[in-house]
Amino acid sequence: MAATLQINGKAVQVKAAPETPLLWVLRDELSMTGSKYGCGVGQCGACTVLADGQPIRSCSTPISALGTAKITTIEGLGGDHPVQQAWIRHDVPQCGYCQSGQIMGAVALLAQKPKPTDDDISSAMDGNICRCGSYQRIRAAIKDAAGLPQVASSPPPLQAPSAPASAAKI
Ligand code: FES
Ligand code: FES
Repeated sequence: MAATLQINGKAVQVKAAPETPLLWVLRDELSMTGSKYGCGVGQCGACTVLADGQPIRSCSTPISALGTAKITTIEGLGGDHPVQQAWIRHDVPQCGYCQSGQIMGAVALLAQKPKPTDDDISSAMDGNICRCGSYQRIRAAIKDAAGLPQVASSPPPLQAPSAPASAAKI
């Protein structure tokens, strides 16, 4: 039975059964491999796409649940999206496997909160796991994309203590 999905601004006919997870349709039927398979059970965020602007785990969302939702995948951002550009400036990816999911999470966050606090960033990105530990760069790139100042990632340089008054006479 064919279904019609709204993906990256186009109506797309797919043949997959209604219970098929969206991630399988994207990768196997539509050859859109930017969304990754990590855990397969909604726990890592590697497969994150947007449905009407909200991040969803495509590995655990059957296409029958999508209705007329507008799906946006990493391919739909086009490469010039401000979040992608900030990712490049901060050299965020290491192995890269989690990063399309991270970017989609960040895009959703900034659409809802253009000037997120650190807590906003933490809670929005909490479910996106990076085994390479790129979390600091992800945070920096989100702040950059939002036009927010960076917080120093290392403590200020140590300064030599001033000499005690008595020592100056010795
Ligand atoms: S692959 Fe979907 S959340 Fe891990
Ligand atoms: S960059 Fe390797 S898992 Fe995130």
